[in-house]
Amino acid sequence: MADPQVSAELLPQHIAIIMDGNGRWAKQQGKPRLYGHRVAVKAVRETISTASRLGIQAVTLFAFSSENWRRPQEEVSLLMDLFMMVLTREVKKLHKNNLKLQIIGDKTRFSSPLQIKIAKAEALTQNNTGTVVNVAANYGGKWDITQAVKQLAMTVDSGELAPADITEETISQYLCLSDLPDVDLMIRTSGECRISNFLLWQMAYAELYFTDLFWPDFGEQPLLDAITWFINRERRFGCTSEQLQLFMSQTA
Ligand code: IPE
Ligand code: IPE
Ligand code: MG
Repeated sequence: MADPQVSAELLPQHIAIIMDGNGRWAKQQGKPRLYGHRVAVKAVRETISTASRLGIQAVTLFAFSSENWRRPQEEVSLLMDLFMMVLTREVKKLHKNNLKLQIIGDKTRFSSPLQIKIAKAEALTQNNTGTVVNVAANYGGKWDITQAVKQLAMTVDSGELAPADITEETISQYLCLSDLPDVDLMIRTSGECRISNFLLWQMAYAELYFTDLFWPDFGEQPLLDAITWFINRERRFGCTSEQLQLFMSQTA
């Protein structure tokens, strides 16, 4: 029997990634943590372009958690500078490739130049129809649910909505990423097996994939391996990562 062809409906529609291990990767090379964060950008680029070539609907990347402010002030400010630099450098390329960029999280804590840069990047790419790239920055799953509940409480307070009419759908409407399907596949690098307050509601039924690779070593092949695992996990039919590569070349 010929190898079954991989078809688009087998692929996860929404992949969420906890990009962890930059610091340990740098330490292994005898370099400062910041070096790891810089090299991490390359892995982000490769991951996004692979997902886009596969026609994945959405990729949500955890870049900075609401807990990461607890890091040394020097690291936090270097991460903010890097965020600013990446937005300046990469957005045109994303736009050229028809990708839609969205930043999720509490943006009010960022400097105003960064907030302006974010708003411009989102506006530039908002009508693009390719893969949606969500970057979670100052994001926390508990924060997300809290802000949704606050908005919902206001509609109840104003008499627009009766408490008895609150459903899972009404809550979902106020959460980040309400316009996208829930996460199908969650990937975390660096060997840690926890979700660190990432998307809580949206990952309720996600398949969880943990790899020992540190984030700077992630890229096309590791992403294909994770998707292969996902497809086999779903027991649809066991494809191989070579088949996925073939699928990518056919859809290019
Ligand atoms: C993930 O790598 C990036 C951010 C949280 C910004 P880490 O910086 O957490 O790297 P490790 O976990 O210390 O190795
Ligand atoms: C989670 O990584 C957040 C991001 C990848 C941005 P951390 O390295 O901050 O998570 P913990 O603290 O080890 O759980
Ligand atoms: Mg970490």
